[in-house]
Amino acid sequence: TIKEVKARRVWDSRGWPTVEVDVVLESGRFGRGMAPAGASRGTHEAVDLRDGGTALAGKDVQKALNAIETEIAPVLKGMNVVDQAAIDGRMKEMDGTANLARLGGNAVIATSMAVLNAAAADVELPLWRHLAGDAPVRLPLPQIQIFGGGAHASRRIDIQDLMVIAIGATSFRQATEMTAEVYLSAGRIMAERGLLQGVADEGGYWPAFDNNEQALDTLVKAIEGAGYVPGEDVAIALDIASSEFGKNGRYRLALESRDYDSDGMCELLLKWLDRYPIVSIEDPLAEDDEAGLIAFTNAAGAKVQIVGDDYLVTDGQRVRRASEIGACNCVLVKPNQAGTITDTRAALDAARQAGFGAIVSARSGETEDFIIVHLSTGWDAGQLKVGSFARSERMAKWNEAIRIEESDLPFAGRGALVRS
Ligand code: PGA
Ligand code: ZN
Repeated sequence: TIKEVKARRVWDSRGWPTVEVDVVLESGRFGRGMAPAGASRGTHEAVDLRDGGTALAGKDVQKALNAIETEIAPVLKGMNVVDQAAIDGRMKEMDGTANLARLGGNAVIATSMAVLNAAAADVELPLWRHLAGDAPVRLPLPQIQIFGGGAHASRRIDIQDLMVIAIGATSFRQATEMTAEVYLSAGRIMAERGLLQGVADEGGYWPAFDNNEQALDTLVKAIEGAGYVPGEDVAIALDIASSEFGKNGRYRLALESRDYDSDGMCELLLKWLDRYPIVSIEDPLAEDDEAGLIAFTNAAGAKVQIVGDDYLVTDGQRVRRASEIGACNCVLVKPNQAGTITDTRAALDAARQAGFGAIVSARSGETEDFIIVHLSTGWDAGQLKVGSFARSERMAKWNEAIRIEESDLPFAGRGALVRS
């Protein structure tokens, strides 16, 4: 039984205020949740409640904390902590909007995560095991960023995430070791060429490339430099995040100094798929370009994994619709897009039913919280995306997966990648 719900302001990896919630039980045990924050957000995702005004650039969360203390806490008090669906349902009902704008997506997801962690603590199980029950589960295949761009690096390059997947790895540990070698190799190459400008929001190198292909070429070189065969040991995954530069069927690629229409954008990406060992591509076309997403999935879905992030926003209904019309074959699963743990799980269930893959994902603004590793493992999603291989808000997740692997769980490996 829930005895108390406490909220406090803490700070995320960008130094922005965020919401932390403790759910304390009558048994004395408790669970904690922390809200992450995106920078390249989908139009249809749950929205954070921020104070506005001039202090802290308008990003303070006092209103969200107040919503927890005055509205959420009194209702949750006395509820059974294992009734996650009922608790999440009550919060949505109380909010009354479609995107949690009134109570705040940040208030609701932090509370929802704290409730889940408290339920696992109450039965003294690690969260992944509590979620798995008797079902067999696997450590997820990680996709790990090497270069950051787009909204996470002041649009220095158009592509948001240039990532690698250690498809030759047979354990999670080995995947992290192979990625570490590639990250180090990429850093050496960038420093030698005078292209290194620091790290972007998710810890990937902030690159000074002249064009997008140079970024892809350098990533291939980095894989080779680490002693791996591109496409055999280590493959490439991209998040184009094209809603950031594509609107109304026009795509403005700053590094190429030109505009593409939807067909032209498709052609450019298909050319990259031919030239580079790419196995996964996220948001290839903009969230409002459904026809483009269908065309691209038709052309490339049998060859590579096509991931919907801004387009699917961790929404089961949108996943079902996408599978019916043939747009994408995999969903990015971000709990704070859905707004509650229950709706996050519903998006994953919809993906399973549709034959879609699923990648549980962090946000560009993160905390030391590693609940997504437990969700990905305990729900057996198969894949995990956390950002790069640097900065402790990222490493906290990879390190937690390494600890979980000690329970002798199998590794999902390259078999987790989907094709249509
Ligand atoms: P965001 O980006 O967290 O800034 O929205 C992550 C992503 O696009 O996958
Ligand atoms: Zn994305």
